[in-house]
Amino acid sequence: MNLIAGHRALEAPVGVPVWDIDPYDPDVLVDPMPYYRQLRERGEVVFLRRYGVLAVGRYDTTKAVFTDYENFVSSRGVGLEDFAVTEPWRPPSIILETDPPDHTKARRVMARALSPKVAKECARLFEEEADALVDALLEKGTFEAVTEFAEIYPTTVFPKAVGMTEVHQRYLVDYGAMVFNAIGPDNALRRAAMAHAPEIVPWIMASCARDRLTKDGLGAMIYDTADTGEITLDEAGMLVRSFLSAGVDTTVTGIGNALWCLSQNPEQWELLKSDPSLIRPAFEEVLRFTSPVHTFCRTAGRPTQISGVPVEEGTKVVCVLGAANHDPDKWGDPENFRVDRRPVGHVAFGVGIHGCVGQNIARAELQAVLSAMVRKVDRIEAIGEPVWRPNNAIRALDKLPIRLTPQ
Ligand code: HEM
Repeated sequence: MNLIAGHRALEAPVGVPVWDIDPYDPDVLVDPMPYYRQLRERGEVVFLRRYGVLAVGRYDTTKAVFTDYENFVSSRGVGLEDFAVTEPWRPPSIILETDPPDHTKARRVMARALSPKVAKECARLFEEEADALVDALLEKGTFEAVTEFAEIYPTTVFPKAVGMTEVHQRYLVDYGAMVFNAIGPDNALRRAAMAHAPEIVPWIMASCARDRLTKDGLGAMIYDTADTGEITLDEAGMLVRSFLSAGVDTTVTGIGNALWCLSQNPEQWELLKSDPSLIRPAFEEVLRFTSPVHTFCRTAGRPTQISGVPVEEGTKVVCVLGAANHDPDKWGDPENFRVDRRPVGHVAFGVGIHGCVGQNIARAELQAVLSAMVRKVDRIEAIGEPVWRPNNAIRALDKLPIRLTPQ
């Protein structure tokens, strides 16, 4: 069996455009728009020879694969590794990396803990911390937005919401980098992130234990479910781990990317300040425009097809959410960042049964951050070149020097 990046490599299927690009090359990851465009233009489905996989990037096709959970399964991994042929680097997530009926049970428990009502209850905490952080940064005036704002805010509020009694902000950020780089091939990015595993993974696992959590947080809600018998105690620990895997790096990236979008488009910031009802649509546009999670995979669980192209069982399909969110056939003028676009149907949170279960929390965090800024900040200026941080699944900044001017 010819294994590439942990999956059975496919031969080029007849009639499918063959492309020799490496989408996980750091140069592509930091400047992905030309890759996104070419991927869409080459066809409904493209064969990436280097990895022996199919790739999709048109909006309708990407959405079709993501929603077809019966043919395109998650239980064989949402990265390049096929768990049917390769041992995963950690025990698979019992929500992200499962299919119904197992997925349905875990999803029900998580959806309850992350419901709109719960997100609303977190709002006061989120607002207080956002106000305090924006005040402190206004006091400084100029600062490094990634390390001093984007990484600080979620690693302050989210562990409190979860009820963590011991917080290591750097470990939380680095764990996210590990989880998301693991979605890609065994390249230098993945190896560098994984080098931290022996130090961080035991800390993460210990932090998910019941006795390390307060009795009133999201974590306790998950463990309470175990008391009713709906899930086991082990499963509860695994779901708390999902909070830490999926709920930190994503929102760190959402905040950094929002600051980038607004600092690069001052007229859009003026529009947002003049009409705060646009805060929510502005965040959705940040998500569409930057796709913080740019790529996730699926595996064909049985022989199937994509847009009439036959797909063999075991085929990995690289689904490029970033390309779908810039498809001109769907969005008209995707290259323009417009806070009043209201991009209903963007796929930055995924779509279908695995669509982000934490989106209410993500929106509540960003609502608090952007609302504090709209009330307190007059101008957001980039005072240096933004630098992107390549990651196999996340499109995040590494450096964003900015200046905030108070109102
Ligand atoms: C801007 C912030 C966020 C973005 C862009 C984002 C993106 C995504 C995407 C694209 C998926 C779909 C994965 C797939 O279909 O394979 C997903 C699923 C998921 N997200 Fe988020 N996410 C964000 C915030 C959060 C937060 C704050 C949490 C936790 C509180 C969270 C927890 C999860 C979980 C547990 C799943 C798996 C759901 C399932 O498989 O049913 N996410 N997210």
